[in-house]
Amino acid sequence: MRNIFENIHIPEKHKIDKPFNQHTYLVDGKLKEWKGETTSVYSPVYQKDSKGKLQPTLLGTIPNQTQESALEALNSAYQAYDKGRGEWPTMKVEERINCIENFAKMMQETRDEVVNWLLWEIGKPYEESCNEFDRTIKYIEDTILNLREMDQKHSEIKNHDGILAQVRRAPLGVVLCLSPYNYPLNETFCLLIPALIMGNTTIFKPAKYGILLLSPLLEAFQKSFPKGVVNIIYGSGRTLATPILESGKVDVLALIGNSKSANALQGYHPKKNRLRLVLGLEAKNPGIVLPDCDLELTVRECVNGALAFNGQRCTALKILFVHEDIVEEFSKKFVTAIEKLKYGNPWEEGVNITPLPEPNKPDYIQELIADAEEKGANVINKNGGERQESFVYPAVLYPVNEKMRIYEEEQFGPVVPILTFKDIQEPLDYVSESKYGQQVSLFSKSSEALAPLIDNLVNQVCRVNINAKCQRGPDVFPFVGRKDSAVSTLSVYDALRTFSIRTLVAFKSNETNDKILSDLLENESSNFLRKK
Ligand code: G3H
Repeated sequence: MRNIFENIHIPEKHKIDKPFNQHTYLVDGKLKEWKGETTSVYSPVYQKDSKGKLQPTLLGTIPNQTQESALEALNSAYQAYDKGRGEWPTMKVEERINCIENFAKMMQETRDEVVNWLLWEIGKPYEESCNEFDRTIKYIEDTILNLREMDQKHSEIKNHDGILAQVRRAPLGVVLCLSPYNYPLNETFCLLIPALIMGNTTIFKPAKYGILLLSPLLEAFQKSFPKGVVNIIYGSGRTLATPILESGKVDVLALIGNSKSANALQGYHPKKNRLRLVLGLEAKNPGIVLPDCDLELTVRECVNGALAFNGQRCTALKILFVHEDIVEEFSKKFVTAIEKLKYGNPWEEGVNITPLPEPNKPDYIQELIADAEEKGANVINKNGGERQESFVYPAVLYPVNEKMRIYEEEQFGPVVPILTFKDIQEPLDYVSESKYGQQVSLFSKSSEALAPLIDNLVNQVCRVNINAKCQRGPDVFPFVGRKDSAVSTLSVYDALRTFSIRTLVAFKSNETNDKILSDLLENESSNFLRKK
C-alpha cells in the first residue's frame, strides 16, 4: 500500500506559505488583539521535517482564551440583547435580513480561502470542502426566503371571540453556539444564521479542529452586525462554556457534539427551565439489508453512507445488518467497492479516504478493531485498518456480535461492522435498545417487506431511508433525532422556529382598541406589530 505522506506533491493553489496566526477575537463589535497564550493548529497531513521525520503540518496558532474572555463575550452578547430591548432584537425583520445578506456577500468572497483551510485543517477532500461552502451559502439564502414567507404569513390580524391578535415570532435571548469539527462551517452556520436572523445575540466558540477557516470571515461578521450581536472566542470548551452557562445569562445552548458534554453543560445553568436546548448529538445509524435488495445499489449506498468523509458524519451508517442469505455476496461486493475508493491527501482529485484530524482517532479505531478481532471478528478487506500516522485505511469487520465495543460505540471513523441476521426482529431490537435514535436505512425491493418495518421504525428514529444512505440533507427536510441523538429540530424552516418563540399582541375588540390597532398598523410605529 502506498504511503500517502511520502513524496507529497502539493498543488500550487493549495500551498500555505507560512503558518497563520489568528491573534484577534471578536467581542463587542471589535476585533480585539489577544495577548495571552496561544495554541498551535496542526493539519492531519504529515510532511517531512529537515531531518526527514514525518510531522503534522503546522498551520498556525489560535488564542487560548480564559474564563475572563468568556465572560467578556457573554457580557457583550448580554448587553447587545439588553433583555430584549437592544437594537438587534427590536429591529425590523427586513433590516436584520439586510445584515445577513451583507454578510453572505462578503462571505462569498472568502470561498477559496475558507475551502483551503477546510481541506488542511480537517482533511476534507477538496470537492467536499467546496460543497460544504456552497451548501452553507444556499442555506443562508433559503433561510432568508423562508423568513420572508413566514413573516408575510404572520402579518395577518386574527379575530377570535372578540380578541384581535397578531402572532409573530420573537427572539429568545443570548445563544451559546458550539459546533463540531466534521462540518465546522456548515453546522456552525446552520445554528448561527437562524439564531441571528430571529433577533438573538450570540457567542460562538469553534470546534477543536476547523478553526482557522473562520479567520477570513471575522471581518465580515464584524462589519455586518451591530456591536455585540456576534461574539467569537477561542479556546477549550470547558474553560469557556462553563462560566458562560454558570452565569445563567444564556437562553439557548446550541451544540452539535456529544451527549456527555451536552449533559454536563446544561447542568451548569442555574435556571434550567430558562435554557432552551438545540442539540445534534451522536448516532449509530444502522443499515438493514434484506435478502431481496438490489445488491449493486445497496453496496454503493452502504459504502458511501459508511465511509464518506472517512465515516466522520453523525449520519454515517455505523453498523450494517445483512440477511444471512446474502451476507457472503454482499460482503464480497462491499469489499471490492471499498478497494475502488481512492485514498490519499485531501487535494487529490477524486479522493475519498483521507487523514483524520483527531490525533487520538487512529489509536481508537485500532483499539476497536483489536477488540472485535479478539472476540471473533475478522478484518475482511485487504489493508483494512492499516495505519500511516493520521491515516487509517478503512477496515470491514465481520462477523460482529453484541460483545464487541464496535456493536455499541459510535466509531465516527473508517471502520465498518457487518452483522448477519436471520430474523428481522434482531435488527429491530437493536434499534429499539440503542441509546440513539437518529436514522436508519432499509434496503429491499419489496413494498410488502418494507411496510411493517417503516411503521415500526418511524417510532424509533426520525428518518427512515429507503434504498438510500442516511443523511441530513436536503436542508429543507427536518434534521432531528430521538433519545441521545438530538433535542430540537433543524431544517431551514424548523430552525427559524427553534431559535424563536411565538409571541402575540392581543386587543379586546372595542372602539378604542380597534382605533389603536389601526393607527399602529397605518403609522408603522411598531417594529413588531405591523402590516407586513
Ligand atoms: O455530522 C452530521 C452532519 O449533519 C451530516 O450531514 O448527512 O449531509 O453529511 P450529511
